[in-house]
Amino acid sequence: GPVREIQVDPYLLLEDDLKYIYDDIRKLLLQASSQMELKTISSYYFDGQGKALRPMVVMLMARAVNYHMNKESGNLLERQRQIAIFAEMVHSASLVHDDVIDNSDFRRGKPSVNVLFNHKRVTMAGDYILAIASIIIAGLKNDDVTIILCQILTDLVQGEFMQLGSKETENERFAHYLTKTYRKTASLIANTLKGAAVLAGAEESLSELAFQYGRNIGLAFQLVDDLLDFVSSAEQMGKPTAADLKLGLATAPVLFACEKFPELNPMIMRRFQEPGDVERAFELVHKSHGLEQTRFLARKHCIEAIRLAQEMADSPYQKALCVVSDLVINRMK
Ligand code: FPP
Ligand code: MG
Ligand code: MG
Repeated sequence: GPVREIQVDPYLLLEDDLKYIYDDIRKLLLQASSQMELKTISSYYFDGQGKALRPMVVMLMARAVNYHMNKESGNLLERQRQIAIFAEMVHSASLVHDDVIDNSDFRRGKPSVNVLFNHKRVTMAGDYILAIASIIIAGLKNDDVTIILCQILTDLVQGEFMQLGSKETENERFAHYLTKTYRKTASLIANTLKGAAVLAGAEESLSELAFQYGRNIGLAFQLVDDLLDFVSSAEQMGKPTAADLKLGLATAPVLFACEKFPELNPMIMRRFQEPGDVERAFELVHKSHGLEQTRFLARKHCIEAIRLAQEMADSPYQKALCVVSDLVINRMK
């Protein structure tokens, strides 16, 4: 029969790197404050139930880069692990804010933190997570890495801000969507991976490779997220679905559907505000090829990510980076 290559399981491969990520984050948050409620709210999502996708990819790239450069130092790896922790903390801080902004009530399979505590406290708890994450950057004492990681924060805010506006023409709209998607999702992955490479002393071409791998994985991840919003269930996703249209957002599936059904144009412009808009747009997306086109674009970015990973020295970590690309395109939640 056909010989099948045994695929590496990235999570198993990185078991030791990832085992204490959530414990370490909890410790940082708990020891820096005397405010009981602030501790409770800020550590709410660090219960070990998350996928830890971002820390996992940071550590895979870190180990793949170290291997590529023939570097083997426990100290370097521990510093790169600080970036993995930073990635998870900033991501979670942005979600704490996001659920307040989106008025969402369900996250990671449980009531979102803004359901349990008032918005003022929750917003400040998000800021607190961000503040503690900033201390991690300072601890790395590397100016280049500081600039790279701080860019993520600017991008997150700008991405979220861009999402509040709509563009007139179809061309502008897709470009706007892709830039927004880069800023709100891909920048965090791209720049934490680049940071891990720069910490290892990687030259420009290698740190750029790490960045581009992360950018492509990040774009694919958000495209699939926007797709799943139309086809998955809240139970599957652990967060509300069919939510984007209600929030006024025209994501890739709608933008593609627009080519076949121009009547979506005015609805996009008025952000699906009029009665029946959300239902009609949902129906048109399903009648179009918007969902397949979105998956196709996501797959294109995954293939590019694999191509980049394969430029690095052959190692289990490099192989696992290719597996991550499969996980992203095939994920159901
Ligand atoms: C989730 O998107 C939201 C983000 C990926 C970024 C949110 C960023 C901010 C709120 C800016 C503030 C940032 C910092 C630095 C604390 P979504 O609403 O499309 O996804 P969802 O379905 O998971 O809610
Ligand atoms: Mg949201
Ligand atoms: Mg949002």
